[in-house]
Amino acid sequence: MPTTVDLQISDFLVKSISKSERSVSELNSFFNSNQIKSELHWFTHRDTLERAASRPDRRLFYFAPHDAIIGGLMIWCESRVLDQTEAQIRLVAVSPDYRGYGIGQYLVKKAIEFAKEHNKESIIADVAAEAPAVQFWEAIGFHKVDSYFTNGGREMYQMERHLSK
Ligand SMILES: CC(C)(COP(=O)(O)OP(=O)(O)OC[C@H]1O[C@@H](n2cnc3c(N)ncnc32)[C@H](O)[C@@H]1OP(=O)(O)O)[C@@H](O)C(=O)NCCC(=O)NCCS
Repeated sequence: MPTTVDLQISDFLVKSISKSERSVSELNSFFNSNQIKSELHWFTHRDTLERAASRPDRRLFYFAPHDAIIGGLMIWCESRVLDQTEAQIRLVAVSPDYRGYGIGQYLVKKAIEFAKEHNKESIIADVAAEAPAVQFWEAIGFHKVDSYFTNGGREMYQMERHLSK
């Protein structure tokens, strides 16, 4: 655990894959590290990340202040599963040692900017009903709009935030 907050979270340090040389493999390894994999409700397929990196309507953001990736996010603006007016944060995670420093919130801020560029009116994210991340979404302005059960019987919440113009 860092003893001091030596992270300057800024646009200089939060980058998107499509604008950098950093490979999708590194982000795939980050999302599939044992700890983060166990916390995310969706398995991250490398192909999905590859597609997000190459499509203009999807984006991967990552935070890597000291070389290694310690935070990542994937947003989709277009998909068959989405309404025309909404974008979706499919994945967001921060390394356990660096949680609570605002990195997750900053990544979501970048996602919101991206969604606005695509003229989206709202942004949604799914989260397991029992996950601590529910409080994360609520703290950053999302609220529960729906709930459902997965085939495996897990209760999920759909969280939403309206985007101002
Ligand atoms: C959820 C996650 C991305 C949050 O990242 P983070 O960098 O720690 O979040 P931030 O520091 O930006 O926190 C933003 C706000 O959310 C709150 N928050 C974050 N995690 C929280 C938690 N577990 N419980 C309560 N509040 C929480 C913070 O207190 C902060 O609120 P504040 O500004 O009022 O103080 C991170 O905990 C994580 O990677 N979890 C595992 C993966 C996961 O669950 N992803 C989401 C799937 S939908």
